[in-house]
Amino acid sequence: MFGLPASILAVSSTHAGAQAQLAATPPMGWNSWNHFAEKVTDADVRSAADALVASGMRDAGYVYVNVDDTWEGKRDAAGTIQTNSKFPDMKALADYVHSKGLKFGIYSSPGPKTCAGYEGSYGHEQQDANTYAAWGVDFLKYDLCGLRELMGPYERDPKKASRMMRDAYVKMHEALVKAGRPIVYSICQYGSDSVWQWGAEAGGNLWRTTDDISDSFRSMSLIGFSQAGLEKYAGPGHWNDPDMLEIGNGGMLPDEYRTQMSLWAILAAPLLAGNDLSKLDETTKSILMNKEVIAVDQDRLGRQGYRLGPLQVWVRELADGAKALAIFNFVTDDVPQPVTVSFKDLGFTGPVHARDLWAHTDLGTLSGEYTAVPPKGGVVMLRLWQ
Ligand code: GLA
Repeated sequence: MFGLPASILAVSSTHAGAQAQLAATPPMGWNSWNHFAEKVTDADVRSAADALVASGMRDAGYVYVNVDDTWEGKRDAAGTIQTNSKFPDMKALADYVHSKGLKFGIYSSPGPKTCAGYEGSYGHEQQDANTYAAWGVDFLKYDLCGLRELMGPYERDPKKASRMMRDAYVKMHEALVKAGRPIVYSICQYGSDSVWQWGAEAGGNLWRTTDDISDSFRSMSLIGFSQAGLEKYAGPGHWNDPDMLEIGNGGMLPDEYRTQMSLWAILAAPLLAGNDLSKLDETTKSILMNKEVIAVDQDRLGRQGYRLGPLQVWVRELADGAKALAIFNFVTDDVPQPVTVSFKDLGFTGPVHARDLWAHTDLGTLSGEYTAVPPKGGVVMLRLWQ
């Protein structure tokens, strides 16, 4: 149990059931960072909430509206965190988001400063957790950044650095529990120190497994395909988080964005859109709101998929005995190549029913094997069942 104090483990186990219910399936929503970064304002967040409703995204499952870094102001004389001028009234913003049938998320750091240099929660954990609860916050992303300076370089004393980091995450988890409002807890420390091995113990509902994603096929595919092997650490209430979606941000082709959506669904990853929802085009909508792919991501069994063997073939077991199969055009295949998958290798004996989740067509009953030629940067994704 990683040597956590007994009192902390008691808190964790008491709340393990509540934690699982809080994120029984991977959280879905929108986050301000990938598109707006430090420029985000109250008006941008309201307009994102409006767009989630108008576009149908809320009804497709995208319910969290998460304000990332740069909302923070200074603390008042009593030490209570204030917002800055971009966010005049956080409680009013949360109320607005809730009035749309959505949930509200916020961001902080265990360090004195956030990544963007704003006020962090260090030394004010309980006070901040109480403030978030009073505002009506439903999701907290807690981002390591500023604490790294206090931890010192890992090389100097890895044990001390690691202990300090884990303690800081447990501390905020306990503070959130004490604050008494169910708040999804998103651990963000870029996958260091094998966070997947201790993130759930520390109270995390999700934990970032990698450094920051950017809106390029190289970044997205390096992150996505490097998740192989982490599947055993995920499950209802505690998910690996390969970072947010870039779909609709303009740096990738539609087939490449279909790869992100499909791979993230196979990975049981949180689906946090990161684009400007006031400029949603039809292609972006068709990718973000592919209900058949979302159903794979949100499958109630909560078992993360795995890489089958050939680099570009990934499989996920689903609750009713079905399997999702994704065949990708992997990274450097300029000329699309046929890839054949044998149903026996997927654990099926006898004929299987198949449905193409991007073409939205039934493929009828298939026997033996299936061959796909995924487009450059793209994917063929099937649901298979007997
Ligand atoms: C880090 C995180 C990002 C984002 C920024 C905000 O880089 O990994 O996701 O939250 O900080 O400053």
